[in-house]
Amino acid sequence: MPTTVTYFVSPTSEAVAQAAAALFSTEAIAAVKARGVARIAISGGSTPKRMFSILADPNEAYAAGTPWENLELFWVDERCVPPTDAESNYKMTKEALLDHVPLSAARIHRMEGELDPHEAAARYESEIRNTFRLEGAETPTFDLVLLGMGDDGHTASLFPHTDALNETSLIVTPNHVPQKDTWRITLTKPVINQGREVAFLIEGAAKAEILAKVLLGPYDPETTPSQLIRPASGKVSFLLDAAAASKLPEPKVADPSSVTIGTLELS
Ligand code: 6PG
Repeated sequence: MPTTVTYFVSPTSEAVAQAAAALFSTEAIAAVKARGVARIAISGGSTPKRMFSILADPNEAYAAGTPWENLELFWVDERCVPPTDAESNYKMTKEALLDHVPLSAARIHRMEGELDPHEAAARYESEIRNTFRLEGAETPTFDLVLLGMGDDGHTASLFPHTDALNETSLIVTPNHVPQKDTWRITLTKPVINQGREVAFLIEGAAKAEILAKVLLGPYDPETTPSQLIRPASGKVSFLLDAAAASKLPEPKVADPSSVTIGTLELS
């Protein structure tokens, strides 16, 4: 099935973070309105940090406008480190967002990076099954999956030429990443692709080349795992700054907020 890529190009990284915060809050509101709960999976790394601080900022609309009381927060992936470690995605999110918004601890579903990777992945799979009340081989449908992309084309912790790329029966899997000599825990491709809304948040000139390769280059997901993200919904969004988008076709549509919008069809 073809996938429609819509890329939203903001002039600056600050504008992208604002757009991402708006997406997070809007999708949460829509999910709660439709189903009484919003289940969102977020990525880590460095890019989302500013977006999280905007969501938490009492001077912005989102802190008060986001339905935190009906939001279940999950991670797309985590490094296999304790939650106090500088590398921890949870730590970054806690400092930028969780310590500042009324999201109850019971609704914050942390990947336990301090545990053995296989045990942590199995426990997280159970946590998702219980929270979504899944039965049998059912897989979860997140309302929003927020992804980043590394300059090697990875997303989540689906790194080039690693075992997790081919994992399709589990919801969560441990993944050994030889190129980083480390273990990660990650949602698997089918779970990410089942998201109602799947959006990449990518900034900076360093990502421009690999982004063009992912979107315009030959299909080679072992080498560029972000190409695995072909949501069942038939659509995926990319929230970009001008630097990251600099090697994509010039978007033709400009909206009032000076965001330009381009589309691509992935066969
Ligand atoms: C992680 C992320 C990972 C991240 C990319 C981009 O745990 O590192 O989930 O997939 O999104 O590596 O990271 P930056 O935002 O730091 O460029």
